[in-house]
Amino acid sequence: MEPSFWHERWQKGDIGFHRDAAHAALDSHWRAVGVAPPAVVFVPLCGKSLDMAWLAGKGYRVLGVELSQLAVDAFFESQNLTPSTRQQGTFAVSTAGPFELWCGDLFALPADALREVGAVYDRASLVALPPATQHAYADWLSTMTGKAPILLVGLAYDEAEMDGPPFSVPQSRVRELLSANYDLDVLSDADVIEANVGMKKRGLTALQETVYRARRKT
Ligand SMILES: C[S@@+](CC[C@H](N)C(=O)[O-])C[C@H]1O[C@@H](n2cnc3c(N)ncnc32)[C@H](O)[C@@H]1O
Repeated sequence: MEPSFWHERWQKGDIGFHRDAAHAALDSHWRAVGVAPPAVVFVPLCGKSLDMAWLAGKGYRVLGVELSQLAVDAFFESQNLTPSTRQQGTFAVSTAGPFELWCGDLFALPADALREVGAVYDRASLVALPPATQHAYADWLSTMTGKAPILLVGLAYDEAEMDGPPFSVPQSRVRELLSANYDLDVLSDADVIEANVGMKKRGLTALQETVYRARRKT
């Protein structure tokens, strides 16, 4: 998607992907990632996700990247925090408490920004990217985040029923994208359509949500 697509969605408040509570995958599966606080957890395409607050509540430091400054500002506001902001290249970097959010394009992040990353949390990030960009994202993650394990929340559905984003990324595709560099475990797999009214309205009759742990091959 062009950046303008996402900027417009944030401007219009068309952010059905945002959840008012942390994703249940964190309570159920974060422990399986096996990285202790106060490690840095990288949250790509972070939006204003309250998952970041959940991670901070467990003692982690959170490094996010997000195109929209509206999203970044809204996140800090939701946490009653006033960040200090610095300019780093093309990025505005907002920092407060355990949170450091880089506003700009993920693929332009400097390697230095990611040097302390201990784990990655991807919810609605891979699936937000069009199929043509997913390989670049998977390769970028493995190059830029080194040995960090990933907790990935993936979605899959019948593409005849709806156009992305979110794009359908079934297990076979996740394996194709990640298995060269990571050992993958499916931690849970369930049809969550009943809890996703917005997707039902868009025409989906089933929505498979799969939580993966990806551990870097040695
Ligand atoms: C589907 S939303 C998911 C947000 C968040 N992960 C959540 O669970 O609420 C995808 C987000 O990625 C951002 N985004 C899309 N492409 C991006 C890119 N290349 N670099 C940084 N952020 C991007 C969008 O602005 C949007 O907020």
